[in-house]
Amino acid sequence: MENEGIETLGARDARWLGEYSQVHMNVFGTPLRVMDHGKGTRIWDVDGNEYLDFLAGIAVNSLGYAHPEWVRAVAEQAAKVAHTSNYFATEPQIELARKLVDIAGAGPGSHVYFGNSGAEGNEAALKLARLYGRTLPNSSAQFGGKPARILSLKNGFHGRTMGALSATWKPSIRTPFEPMLPAFEFVDPRNPTGLSDAFARTGQGPYGEGPVAAVIMELIQGEAGVRPLGPDYVRSVRALCDTHHALLIIDEVQTGIGRTGSWFGFQREELSGGVRPDIVTFAKGVAGGFPMGGMIAFGQRLSSLFTPGSHGSTFAGNPLGAAASLATLGVIEREGLMRNAHDRGEQLRRGIMAVGNPLFVSVRGCGLLDAAELSHPCAHAAMTWALEHGLIVNAVAPDALRMAPPLIVSEQDVDEALGILGAIPGDLPDD
Ligand SMILES: Cc1ncc(COP(=O)(O)O)c(C=O)c1O
Repeated sequence: MENEGIETLGARDARWLGEYSQVHMNVFGTPLRVMDHGKGTRIWDVDGNEYLDFLAGIAVNSLGYAHPEWVRAVAEQAAKVAHTSNYFATEPQIELARKLVDIAGAGPGSHVYFGNSGAEGNEAALKLARLYGRTLPNSSAQFGGKPARILSLKNGFHGRTMGALSATWKPSIRTPFEPMLPAFEFVDPRNPTGLSDAFARTGQGPYGEGPVAAVIMELIQGEAGVRPLGPDYVRSVRALCDTHHALLIIDEVQTGIGRTGSWFGFQREELSGGVRPDIVTFAKGVAGGFPMGGMIAFGQRLSSLFTPGSHGSTFAGNPLGAAASLATLGVIEREGLMRNAHDRGEQLRRGIMAVGNPLFVSVRGCGLLDAAELSHPCAHAAMTWALEHGLIVNAVAPDALRMAPPLIVSEQDVDEALGILGAIPGDLPDD
């Protein structure tokens, strides 16, 4: 690592950032740096400063930057056909859908819908759940029923579009856009009877509510600070869904595609308690940096609720994204990157507690989706200090730093990151 300390913005960075704010809507605040190029786990800004990237575009760049196989796959596909519309199909798109059904172990009759982002994967799942809800007893207005409800969890995050936002907890990002979609409700996972109470409200008469069509949830609440729900809770959700014929939608936008050490988080006993979803949504790491998302519906019956015209998007199943994704999945599989995610995650979590920095009071996460809990709410100051010393991490909560490095991260990279994390001053001021 060449950076001894990148204390101030370089001249080119400063110039571009000035221009950025003049032409971009201010939804992201001022970016930290203007980036130029990357290689493996490293990225360089326009002033030539090097950073070890332990965020990977927020759990997106599974293979790091400019992986030769990924670059080749995208370039070759670009030279063949970059886009067709859904009046036509392409080989990579079909191959990828087959591969995703396989790695999810979704079973015969399962089908994939492709979109372009995590929010779109969840929109598709929520629309499918609405159709499913109409098949439930007591949901038909014609017979005095009420619309089927969709339950999501306090502190959950599912995206910024109006449907996904209706299932997203954080009031500061949701309430300015109210009214949200009807028949969405939140349940607090820390309340042991919260979910069963919500199911129990189903009933006829003036006070009875519609049946529950679906519960949507993450296994690790990523944006809430990398907080695993725990296998017992996930099992109890599955049991209630089974009893009441509701769907379980597991949002694996952040946890999916090898990040936790398995293809999907639900395949890890310690996260899911062995529970299988009815729908799994994916995005972020699936195409290693190419925008892609979607959902897998488990089984024929559920999948066939979508018929021509039910849903769609111009770019759905885009061949460039599909080629990028096939290359990403191929490298993850061949190079044993799920094993690496597991091993490097253990090294990172153990290392954070061993560096002897009083700033770190605990660590949580699974595989390469981790957070260090801080002794006081100085996450922004800690993130900035790390950045200025050549390490990218993320202030995911006022008192937590999130780490989600590329799945290719090496033992030496983790040691280097630990060196920087260990040196963050313990007496940084609160943000
Ligand atoms: C669990 C989860 N679901 C959905 C989303 C939304 O994904 P996107 O930003 O690609 O729309 C995110 C993004 O952080 C996420 O973490």
